[in-house]
Amino acid sequence: MTQKWAPETVVVESARPQRERDAPLNPAVVLSSTFVGTHDLGAEGAEDDGIQYGRFGNPTWSPFESALAELERAELPGLVFASGLAAVSAALELVAPGGTVVMPRHCYLGSLSAARDSAAVGRFDVVTVDIADTDAVNDAVSAAAERHAGTPRAVMLWVESPTNPMLEVADLPAVIAHAKSVDALTVVDNTFATPLGQQPLTVGADVVVHSVTKYLAGHSDVVLGAALTSNTDLHEALHHHRSIRGAVAGPWEVWLALRGLRTLALRIERSQQNALELAKRLSDVPGIEVRFPGLKSDPGHARAAAQLTGFGSILCVVLPTSAAALAVTDCVSLWTPATSLGGVESLIERRRRHVHEPHTVPEGLLRLSVGIEHVDDLWADLEQALASALSTR
Ligand SMILES: Cc1ncc(COP(=O)(O)O)c(C=O)c1O
Repeated sequence: MTQKWAPETVVVESARPQRERDAPLNPAVVLSSTFVGTHDLGAEGAEDDGIQYGRFGNPTWSPFESALAELERAELPGLVFASGLAAVSAALELVAPGGTVVMPRHCYLGSLSAARDSAAVGRFDVVTVDIADTDAVNDAVSAAAERHAGTPRAVMLWVESPTNPMLEVADLPAVIAHAKSVDALTVVDNTFATPLGQQPLTVGADVVVHSVTKYLAGHSDVVLGAALTSNTDLHEALHHHRSIRGAVAGPWEVWLALRGLRTLALRIERSQQNALELAKRLSDVPGIEVRFPGLKSDPGHARAAAQLTGFGSILCVVLPTSAAALAVTDCVSLWTPATSLGGVESLIERRRRHVHEPHTVPEGLLRLSVGIEHVDDLWADLEQALASALSTR
């Protein structure tokens, strides 16, 4: 897809109703579960049948789906889902029965749990790898491809980069190229980077998924997901999954997400600046470890600098113990102790409070989702909480 505008303009200007006298600037919210139609119906609302029914489509979805496609440079419209995990589940279902999914050992725990649940009932196998270790990733994909030689779509490489929560950075072009060379599908969860940070379809990924809940919507007020692809067969399969399994988005949520998307570039610019500044200040605090790809000392820095526009606004601080980490979340008053990320407000969370978080994530790791508040206020709150937590050890 050729791009007329820079992404900063796309988020503001795309998906507007046709410009004509008295036209509204914003698309309408269509609150209807059913749509007028007279023709015989296909199994799931084929396009020439019209929308038919609210599980097959809603006019509120289309502007947001087209804006996402423009941002991710997908040649087909995006597909909104009821949640990020609904989009993840639909993408995982692209794997042929009995196949293998190669996943980062530290990816979003919901994605790992969904895949492991499928593995537990024999739907496919799951192999986990350190996604930053390119040889290990390629070896795992090659081994799976050998095991399933001759079966189409039997191998999937699942990528998060940076990973949630460890912020490991994959060599995205290299692992995707290798996966392609052995006919493995590649899905990239682009929630952390957003399409403003990287566009995985342009380096050969087959599918991109998003938790729209996070940066794209940006205000912690909706739960929503999306999947994007330029491949007609995969698009059809994802569309079928959405229509038949039924994880469809509510029109209000999609409308709110489009409104949130309008300020994505501004929000990202500010939160990334804040995150970099906080990471630098935190690096001078004795007794803690800081993980942030924007720091030159971070193992993912060189790749992030080469692959991403900006370094994101998630950073991690590792305290010596879970008690010390908990003391920090108890002592903050501006940062909100809560799960999730990508909203305008800053959140802090000890990730191992989730029982399914992999045990290789340190007990004392705090994930910080940096918002758009004034950096000095964020720092003052964090500094006093760290000082208090570290002094009571
Ligand atoms: C990277 C990533 N992918 C997917 C999801 C799932 O998205 P949702 O909560 O919208 O279902 C999350 C949620 O935290 C996430 O962080």
